Amino acid sequence: MNQVNLKPTQTPLTGEISVPGDKSISHRAIIFGSLAKGETRITRFLTGDDCLMTIKTFQAMGVEIKQQGEHVFIKSEGVDGLKEPKEPIYFGNSGTTARLMLGVLAGLPFHTTVYGDPSLSKRPMDRVRDPLREMGAKIDGRDHGNLLPIAIRGQDLTGITFKPPMKSAQVKSAVLLGGLLANGNTTVIETTKTRDHTENMLVAFGGEIDVDGNKVTLQGRQRLTGTEIEVPGDISSAAFLIVGALLVPDSNITIKNVGLNPTRTGLLDVLKQMGANIEIKETKKVGGESIGDITVKYSELNAVEVGGEVIPRMIDEFPILALLATQAKGKTIIRDAEELRHKETDRITAVVDILNTLGAKVEGTKDGMIIEGGTPLIGGRVDSDGDHRLGMMNAIASLICREEVILTNPDVIDISYPTFFEDLNELQSN
Ligand code: S3P
Repeated sequence: MNQVNLKPTQTPLTGEISVPGDKSISHRAIIFGSLAKGETRITRFLTGDDCLMTIKTFQAMGVEIKQQGEHVFIKSEGVDGLKEPKEPIYFGNSGTTARLMLGVLAGLPFHTTVYGDPSLSKRPMDRVRDPLREMGAKIDGRDHGNLLPIAIRGQDLTGITFKPPMKSAQVKSAVLLGGLLANGNTTVIETTKTRDHTENMLVAFGGEIDVDGNKVTLQGRQRLTGTEIEVPGDISSAAFLIVGALLVPDSNITIKNVGLNPTRTGLLDVLKQMGANIEIKETKKVGGESIGDITVKYSELNAVEVGGEVIPRMIDEFPILALLATQAKGKTIIRDAEELRHKETDRITAVVDILNTLGAKVEGTKDGMIIEGGTPLIGGRVDSDGDHRLGMMNAIASLICREEVILTNPDVIDISYPTFFEDLNELQSN
């Protein structure tokens, strides 16, 4: 087992930095680039392990994909040129690959078997299995096709109108991707809007989709054309540095070229509500995604109540928000976030356990957490729990702990932010 010993920071976080490309957008760039006919060039692709799984998946179906660092070149004959994989496909730890690819594979004319690592093998797939079966998909596997390994016998699918029972962009995207290959129209109606990168990227590849508030409709059997995609910096990675700067006195950092899609910026709204000194400057819009710079200065914060519509707009940011809330004035309450129980770990139970080990006072609830603010953190031995965002939460916590934090299994951070420790060191040494 590997480990890092993380000492409290002696210096504020200062300077300018960029974070790696967005994970959600990188996955979708590979998926659409492989389904589209022709050449696709991707820049600032996230080289994290999860996105590499999506590349390998399409390579196994015969698509020519060359990846050199953050540059990816795809040459595809389009959806009609995809071939039956010769071997079972490994999705590693990647929930996004699993959910989105089930949608794609369900509509391709061949058989595929897919499997994942122990964490992914525990995560529910019935949320995509059920609507896809309604479209005619043949999906089976462990626990009747709820758990990986799963076998898919691709079929001619038929479009449906679907109202997801949970707030999940992965579910919406799986149904839309199945719908893209299906006969007829597919409509997804959400109660709360989730990240809309699939919708934006479909348009970037020449597809058509009708977006009317929380209702999206696309026509099946559209043919897409290769294009160029510039991936914005991942706001979910930036979130760790932003919180680091808010926690360490005298910090002042600027993160350049971050994705500012409004379906992802819930954390920024909540931080402003807490009193954070944050400036956001939109600089450009690429492929339907807005990009800009975020400047954050150390701030004394107040507790906040978080629930409702903002939850899916910051679903990956709750571990780091919980850490921040341990230092705010007052009691922070998070509700309506039961989806956290279905992430790489049960992120309610895991965050409560870890933060309490470090000295915080956090209580888990059915759908969130109650966090006592103004609690000095002491330090201790904690694990990443096979979850990249918990690994990074621990590392940011170590900046302000009184004693050292011993973090075991930090390598999992590579899933979404392979240069995390380098970037953090850089901000500490300016
Ligand atoms: C993702 C959607 C979110 C998020 C995950 C990536 C996506 O999951 O937690 O990291 O790329 O669509 P849900 O939509 O299932 O909440």
